[in-house]
Amino acid sequence: MSRIAYVAGQYLPHRQAAVHIEDRGYQFADGVYEVLAVVGGHLVDEELHLTRLHRSLGELRIPAPMSNSALKVVMREVVRRNGVDRGIIYLQITRGQAPREHAFPKAAKPVFVATSRRTKPPDPKLGRDGIAVITIPDIRWQRCDIKSVSLLPNVLGKQAAREAGAYEAWQVDRNEQVTEGTSTNAWIVTADGAVVTRAADSAILSGVTRLAVLDIMRREGYRLDERPFTVAEAKAAREAFLTSTTADLLPIVRIDGEPVGDGKPGQLSVKLREAYLVHAGVAA
Ligand code: PDD
Repeated sequence: MSRIAYVAGQYLPHRQAAVHIEDRGYQFADGVYEVLAVVGGHLVDEELHLTRLHRSLGELRIPAPMSNSALKVVMREVVRRNGVDRGIIYLQITRGQAPREHAFPKAAKPVFVATSRRTKPPDPKLGRDGIAVITIPDIRWQRCDIKSVSLLPNVLGKQAAREAGAYEAWQVDRNEQVTEGTSTNAWIVTADGAVVTRAADSAILSGVTRLAVLDIMRREGYRLDERPFTVAEAKAAREAFLTSTTADLLPIVRIDGEPVGDGKPGQLSVKLREAYLVHAGVAA
């Protein structure tokens, strides 16, 4: 089946799908995006993603390109036309096309692109054996709560992780506190069993997976502490894990080469991973 993309009102073969060179997404990274998981043709946590999309658009004063019900139709159509049972949908909305000038153009119309593709589920070995993270300075701007397409620090950070043989890089602020991964949220479990993750301030993206896991924890009565934690605290933690739409929930067993706890996936991480996979429809 050939791939089809939705671009500014049309469904086009992937090869022909393009935006203009003066699109402000290309010129200024002036746009926002979302990544949703598709499981069994179903869009995981669709409403939470749409709520966050509107929040990002609102913060940048980019008008929504269409109503939510129309967005849902496009998403379903892109999934259907690409025959995606298990995979992702990528949505991107930029401020539109205009001669390059920094201030907002008067007449630009937002440009909305949607793609969908099949993806292999994350390697079960990662869930079983756990993953490694490294720590790097957080060199991003002060509005990481906006899901902007401006991702250069994240790109450089992920590449640093790959080159170090790690899955993810945890970004660290000036106070030695972990903000988040380059495309994931960061969590630890303290020696006394409290699950700690940074509160959704402007230093992190409020992850939809993070919200779903918080919801599971509240329902099941876990001890939760939404506060920042330092790299030293993470290295001394009993467990650590990360969450995102594409990674689900993965236990972390090494930080900067040092074992977390006994160097094996922690009990709470494994339990929360199972509960999240049920929530996402991946496991029964
Ligand atoms: N990344 N933090 C950052 C910086 C992210 O880019 C993401 C998502 C997350 C986790 O958010 P969620 O649980 O809603 O996926 C946290 C997506 C998957 C990406 O850029 O591909």
